[in-house]
Amino acid sequence: MIVVTGSTGHVGGEAARLLIESGVPIRLIVRDAVRAAHFGAAEITVADYNQPDAVAQAVHAGDTVFMVSVYETHDERLGKHEQFVRTAADAGAGRIVYLSFINSALDADFIHAVSHFETEQMIRDAGVPFTFLRTSLYQAAVPFFYVDGHAAAPAGTGSASWVSRRDIGAAVAAVLRDENHAGETYELTGPEALTMQQTSERVNSLIGTTLTYDDVDDLATLGTRGLPDPVAMKESRRTCFTSIAIGQQSNVTDHIERLTGIPASPIDRHALNYPEQFRNTGS
Ligand SMILES: NC(=O)c1ccc[n+]([C@@H]2O[C@H](COP(=O)([O-])OP(=O)(O)OC[C@H]3O[C@@H](n4cnc5c(N)ncnc54)[C@H](OP(=O)(O)O)[C@@H]3O)[C@@H](O)[C@H]2O)c1
Repeated sequence: MIVVTGSTGHVGGEAARLLIESGVPIRLIVRDAVRAAHFGAAEITVADYNQPDAVAQAVHAGDTVFMVSVYETHDERLGKHEQFVRTAADAGAGRIVYLSFINSALDADFIHAVSHFETEQMIRDAGVPFTFLRTSLYQAAVPFFYVDGHAAAPAGTGSASWVSRRDIGAAVAAVLRDENHAGETYELTGPEALTMQQTSERVNSLIGTTLTYDDVDDLATLGTRGLPDPVAMKESRRTCFTSIAIGQQSNVTDHIERLTGIPASPIDRHALNYPEQFRNTGS
């Protein structure tokens, strides 16, 4: 059985939708069953990562498990991931497919890339076969970097290979279906790497916005829109940009196309599909 977490969210939701459409039986782990009711064809277990007894109801020996990362501070993320991995390992999970981040490493600049690496290590240490899907920054995250149409951030002239969450969901579904991906690490990136300046200009040319970018390293003016905990996670947002500046987010691969058969889509599609996200960048 394939077990999918995060299906009430974007990446897990797209993966679950594709698996159900192709007739693959799946079990969902969700925190709110009502929000998963539209997945008519799936078994549903209600559990939070920090509820081992409930998670254990959903993961059985030999299952292939998609593990979404939780979007929290470094320590909170690691605590919940540790509980989930331990429970899945104790249940005898056959493989964990973990949603990680490009250039994850203990000495990565980006705070979240450190916790992603530590989670990968946790899964290796638990002895469960794995597939790691290391993604770039989401195209959907880009609008949140602007406040009133302006991004003041320390990304310098470094570039990022913004990736589509829909493409990631398709890649997740592909690796869940096929055990041959065990032991592999893929880098799921967009088709090109753009600087913040180039990103602003690209979006402006497509949808008529007037987005601007300045290379500024100042926590006082750094935008915190979209962060689940704007105070505790401000420094992680800063390191997101400093890691761009030093080239830790610029990888471009063809792994999405290799896994799904469809080339990764550029940020153009996201801007054209969701122009309001770039037009209404809050204050
Ligand atoms: N690469 C990037 O640019 C980037 C940007 C932001 C976040 N991320 C990471 O990528 C992940 C997936 O992205 P996404 O867009 O699909 O996120 P999303 O739409 O926010 O979905 C996150 C999913 O994780 C579930 N979840 C959160 N905490 C949980 C917990 N403690 N126990 C069980 N389930 C939990 C959520 O459940 P509920 O619906 O109940 O909340 C939701 O289904 C995020 O969670 C975050 O860690 C990456």
